[in-house]
Amino acid sequence: LPSTFACLVFGYLLGSIPFGLILTRMAGLGDVRKIGSGNIGATNVLRTGNRKLAAATLLLDALKGTAAAAIASYWGVEAGIAAGFAAFLGHLFPVWLSFRGGKGVATYIGVLLGLMPVMVLLFAAIWLAMAKITRYSSLSALVATAAVPIALYAAGNGKVAGLFAVMTAIAWIKHRANIQRLLSGTESRIGEKG
Ligand code: G3P
Repeated sequence: LPSTFACLVFGYLLGSIPFGLILTRMAGLGDVRKIGSGNIGATNVLRTGNRKLAAATLLLDALKGTAAAAIASYWGVEAGIAAGFAAFLGHLFPVWLSFRGGKGVATYIGVLLGLMPVMVLLFAAIWLAMAKITRYSSLSALVATAAVPIALYAAGNGKVAGLFAVMTAIAWIKHRANIQRLLSGTESRIGEKG
């Protein structure tokens, strides 16, 4: 039985792989941190104009969270929660990038997929509806992440709801520049170079 510490280290190491940075570099697009919002996530990779690379970033940043949570869940729900949370933190604070990582939305979805897959449908429905209406990736993620812990709690899943309440709070803090831009009307919309 692996210790909680082992789950945390395993999750963190997986989560800290900055796929957006790696993929854009491999594609010869330079440093994604120097364009748009400066973020390493899929939304900013999309600002390079390469949709496939943005989709791959979303998928891989999500699946590292899924892998961490699902593999550790073999040893129980607490182990899955620990590894999933660590993967999320690894994405946000990767040691390899002086702890300046992403905003966590893709990895959040991935951890959700690993722990409570049906809730990904709720997330996707809210995100897609918000994105269609507003064209703001950040606002769509803010609203969808707000709904997830509430829905988990309502479904009677207290422990996982607690994890996602904490992850939502951290993701919102990481989106503070986006929130300021949304409030001042200067946030870039999906499809804009930003
Ligand atoms: O949730 C989407 C968020 O990551 C926005 O990214 O690049 O617009 O700051 P960005």
